[in-house]
Amino acid sequence: MFRLAHVSDPHFQCFRLGSVRELFGKRAIGALNLLVRRRFKHRMELLQAMLQDLRGRTFDHLALTGDLCNVALESEWQAALRWIAATGRAPEQVTVIPGNHDAYVPEVVERGSFERLFAAYQTAELRAGEAIYPFVRLRGEVALVCVSTAVPTGDLGAWGRVGEAQLARLATLLAAAEVKARRRIVLIHHPPQINRHGEDLNLRDRQAVQALLARTGADLVLHGHDHRDFWKELPGPGGSRIPVVGVGSASYRGGPDRRSRYRIFDIDAAAISAVTYVHDAATGTYVEQDRRWLGG
Ligand SMILES: [Fe+2]
Repeated sequence: MFRLAHVSDPHFQCFRLGSVRELFGKRAIGALNLLVRRRFKHRMELLQAMLQDLRGRTFDHLALTGDLCNVALESEWQAALRWIAATGRAPEQVTVIPGNHDAYVPEVVERGSFERLFAAYQTAELRAGEAIYPFVRLRGEVALVCVSTAVPTGDLGAWGRVGEAQLARLATLLAAAEVKARRRIVLIHHPPQINRHGEDLNLRDRQAVQALLARTGADLVLHGHDHRDFWKELPGPGGSRIPVVGVGSASYRGGPDRRSRYRIFDIDAAAISAVTYVHDAATGTYVEQDRRWLGG
């Protein structure tokens, strides 16, 4: 049995005025606005509480599905790196993919800053050619198939795109013998279907992703982005159903239905089950909120 912890959208906050001005120039006011607004919604003390909870929890692997920052500042990603290191897990036990916020600034995307900083969490047993994404990490009976939907949208929305070239590589990797021999878990920041209305919030080429999954199949798709829990399905080959599961934000301070949470999946050849742990404001601990069976 393989135990996978899923954390998403922590939106680490850590900035100096100087670095915001340097990165954004004339756009600094817009970036600062966003940073200040987010300070109310996303609380760093919740990430610290989660860290303590995770340190005491038993699992084989931790998957972080993007939006580690707010405005793609290196200081925000450094805060994320310190948090990951403090979980006490080795880099081969932690996988990181980017979200739209990790591509907030086009210049940073062109430099590949995110991939350089998180390289230890993106090492792969399998890639299709030279491109970083998708990459596959083989861990026991599980293959983590890691996709990037992050494109620089700036303030003009929070949409994502996989792109034709990456889709072709994804099809190749999902069909690879060493991947097919395992439970195939796809990690992707944006959900591959619409959970919230508005094209500026969603994956632009979701229909192509759905068509690909219907053809190749997968055992589970994990995403973030929506800051809410979602339990959906997509059709797989031969009438099968692929569970598509979104987890709420790790740092969100709202009520019990959206408050800071993470999920742990138990995966083996016969079944997949999931337990959601949610921050309890009264006790300051993470309590089990939901336990589900996702089938065989
Ligand atoms: Fe996002």
